[in-house]
Amino acid sequence: MVCSADFSQPPCSEDHTLKEYGLRQYTSQTRRIVVKYLIIYFSFSGNNRLLAEYLATQIGCDFCPVVEKKRRTGVTILLDTLFRREPKIQPLEHSVSDYDHIILVAPIWDAKLAHPMKTLIKQEKAALTSYSFISLCGYERPQQQESITQELLSLSGRLPSTVCQLRICDLFPLEKRNDVPTISRYHVTRDDLIQFASQIAEFLRAHPLPSPAATDLGIASSGDDLLA
Ligand SMILES: Cc1cc2nc3c(=O)[nH]c(=O)nc-3n(C[C@H](O)[C@H](O)[C@H](O)COP(=O)(O)O)c2cc1C
Repeated sequence: MVCSADFSQPPCSEDHTLKEYGLRQYTSQTRRIVVKYLIIYFSFSGNNRLLAEYLATQIGCDFCPVVEKKRRTGVTILLDTLFRREPKIQPLEHSVSDYDHIILVAPIWDAKLAHPMKTLIKQEKAALTSYSFISLCGYERPQQQESITQELLSLSGRLPSTVCQLRICDLFPLEKRNDVPTISRYHVTRDDLIQFASQIAEFLRAHPLPSPAATDLGIASSGDDLLA
């Protein structure tokens, strides 16, 4: 599916016009831009699948999962981490090179990218010319944002345009935010996603290519119109 932004209005001359579109980085005189986004996600317990589906609905773009060749268990995560194993994955449903910008969505395990997403990035390195990363992760570990960004750079050879962590711990009262086992097992609901609306809008606005959803989300950042 093609995600298009219609610039049939006169070219923008004032900053406020750009803001209306949520397109801070769009400056050319082009009247119509057609941008193809693809969302590639990995999810073990469902949270990041929910996020990927939500983003795909907002943007109106294709999305597809990273599917492993072997079934994963909690023990597999531990063993992959301990022995730095690289799980094998099935071919993707879509060709990455057919798209202008890829949004990667995956959990964070032990302050690193989930292993199947690492495999995907390595395999698609040549085609990942423009990408960003977002995660429904658990909590803030020291330097986690920097470590994820560095990992993305070393795997793909390029910096992501933006990296966003939506922390599940922020859904909990202050006294429970350090309860790692509870947070790691938590299943995010569609209602929970509303709490992250402004962060998601900020993530979409930071994209190098026009994203109509950024505007929609910006308007609905109170959550009233989200997930209808
Ligand atoms: C073994 C394990 C390790 C984890 N380590 C981290 C971590 O280092 N940092 C973090 O923010 N979240 C961590 N989490 C939380 C997951 O990122 C979070 O639960 C995520 O939403 C799971 O995504 P999924 O449901 O799409 O698989 C960990 C979860 C598990 C199971």
